[in-house]
Amino acid sequence: MTQDLTGKVVLVTGGARGLGEAYARGIVAAGGKVVIGDLLDDDGVAVAESLGESARYQHLDVTDAASWQAAVDATVAAFGRLDGLVNNAGISASGLPVADEPLDTFQKIVQINLVGVHMGMHFAIPAMRAAGGGSIVNISSAAGLMGMALTSGYGAAKWGVRGLTKIAAVELGREKIRVNSVHPGMVLTPMTAPTGISLDEGAFPNNPFKRVGRAEELVGAITYLLSDDASYTTGAELAVDGGWTAGPSTEYIMGR
Ligand SMILES: NC(=O)c1ccc[n+]([C@@H]2O[C@H](COP(=O)([O-])OP(=O)(O)OC[C@H]3O[C@@H](n4cnc5c(N)ncnc54)[C@H](O)[C@@H]3O)[C@@H](O)[C@H]2O)c1
Repeated sequence: MTQDLTGKVVLVTGGARGLGEAYARGIVAAGGKVVIGDLLDDDGVAVAESLGESARYQHLDVTDAASWQAAVDATVAAFGRLDGLVNNAGISASGLPVADEPLDTFQKIVQINLVGVHMGMHFAIPAMRAAGGGSIVNISSAAGLMGMALTSGYGAAKWGVRGLTKIAAVELGREKIRVNSVHPGMVLTPMTAPTGISLDEGAFPNNPFKRVGRAEELVGAITYLLSDDASYTTGAELAVDGGWTAGPSTEYIMGR
């Protein structure tokens, strides 16, 4: 079942490929309008054109204030309002331990994956106030729910997104702006494909399902949180991770 997003206008960052593209497609399938913001102009235009009149592409650098204001303005100009923001744009972990991750690498990851989320909320909130409310979905990670080795800047940013989400939820509740975080596990996308993961059953022993996720398996969580079905849900953290963060596998505990 798909949630009903009829009449809702949503800005999705990092929507030109991967999970963000899947979210953009899911929003339109649910009856909503979407503006895809990304740095990858050719890919973003292609996704928006394939979705027809319900979608637009807007160049957006989530680390740039003027770019954010332009994206919010373009969304309101195109579709008349802004009801939803999916802060999805991000870059991957360095794969280096804390002791070795260069400071500028740490700062770059935090700038995009955490400061970019703050900027998105900062620039979207006035338009949501004008719309009488809204829903912000901040994309964290399983790495924002546990201490995942070799993710120092990435994990720190994703923990930050989780906390910032709760702060904004508390501040904005009385204005009917809901703010929640989603925590994907390992999902096959252009970001993770270079690690060599596959969708084969049994190929990812880290979680109880023993497989990585498909981008489509994240979409329902996003459309739910954007929809009025989630009207009493704010400040929540929704893990969509095949049980990865629930705890160690039975095999690990029992040794078989
Ligand atoms: N794939 C996974 O396993 C996984 C797991 C947990 C969390 N996530 C998170 O989900 C989100 C999407 O991941 P993905 O796997 O689809 O990655 P991806 O690399 O396939 O897509 C990320 C998109 O963000 C865009 N982007 C990067 N920097 C940007 C910037 N400064 N401004 C605007 N857009 C920018 C990229 O151009 C790209 O289109 C990320 O926040 C990621 O951390 C992914």
